[in-house]
Amino acid sequence: MRSVVQNKVEEFLEILRWDKTKWKDFWRAYRNKYGPIIPEYERIHSVDETLLEEVLDNFERRELDRLRRSWMEKSKEHKMRCAETLSSRDDLLDLHREDFVLFIMGLLGLSDWTAVRGNKEWVVVVDVVSLWRKGILERLSDVALQAVNRFREGKTRGDFVEPFDYLTEKLEKILKENTERDKKLLNVCEMLRREISYYDWVGFYLVDPQKDKELILGPFSGEPTEHVRIPFGRGICGQAAERETTFVVQDVTKETNYLSCSPKVKSEIVVPIFKDGKVIGELDIDSHKEAPFRDEDVKFLEKVCQMVSEIL
Ligand code: SME
Repeated sequence: MRSVVQNKVEEFLEILRWDKTKWKDFWRAYRNKYGPIIPEYERIHSVDETLLEEVLDNFERRELDRLRRSWMEKSKEHKMRCAETLSSRDDLLDLHREDFVLFIMGLLGLSDWTAVRGNKEWVVVVDVVSLWRKGILERLSDVALQAVNRFREGKTRGDFVEPFDYLTEKLEKILKENTERDKKLLNVCEMLRREISYYDWVGFYLVDPQKDKELILGPFSGEPTEHVRIPFGRGICGQAAERETTFVVQDVTKETNYLSCSPKVKSEIVVPIFKDGKVIGELDIDSHKEAPFRDEDVKFLEKVCQMVSEIL
């Protein structure tokens, strides 16, 4: 597959070689080098000479120097993580359409990301200056995924928002849709995997009504799994169903009662779904990241399961 993510940050950091009184000249050269991207960026953000001067005046050499050091240390890792996150969601983000690329750039810090029309395709630009100032540079791949999702919805600029703040609304919409139950469950799985960078496999297991104490794989998003039937007590899924409580495993290599689906999986969370006080199914999420699940995930996913229980 072509490389969807390109790192252009070093070119921006060249600004540090210029005398501060010449930073406007640097920006002009930068603008010419990245036409039409930067002129388009300026248009979207209504950057005129006054605003440009103001922003460049406010840039501190010390601030940019710190950004440079931090970037140099981890640029490869950041780029790789962004590329992996996006390409592992190829099926949901339509990457094969080849209608956009993601540039990681240094810009004026006016928003976390901007989508501009390039010469050949759209360019979704993530601005490290903006992320650095907010202290969220570490979350670059989350921002990239969110930017691409919002771009796919037709937005051209935005700031990173904690996903859990808006996902409940998206979920409500899916559950209200006029479609059959399994299609709704599939849409929930796809939405969660599309929006959260570390939810790499998302699926439902439902308790077999014929054979009590056995789970059957329901709708899922991610690679196919051989574990289509799981007895209560077996694996992380079976244990969560038996214990009737959320089970978080931050490092699957430390769990002896574990059914492996793929060597890429590093952690897993399983949340039971209750109806009339009984477990009727569960939501299972695998992550390729180690220890990614926080209290917020547990709270959010328990809420998801409560809402999903209404349609089961
Ligand atoms: N790992 C699970 C099996 C199901 S897959 O993750 C899809 C378990 O240990 O129960």
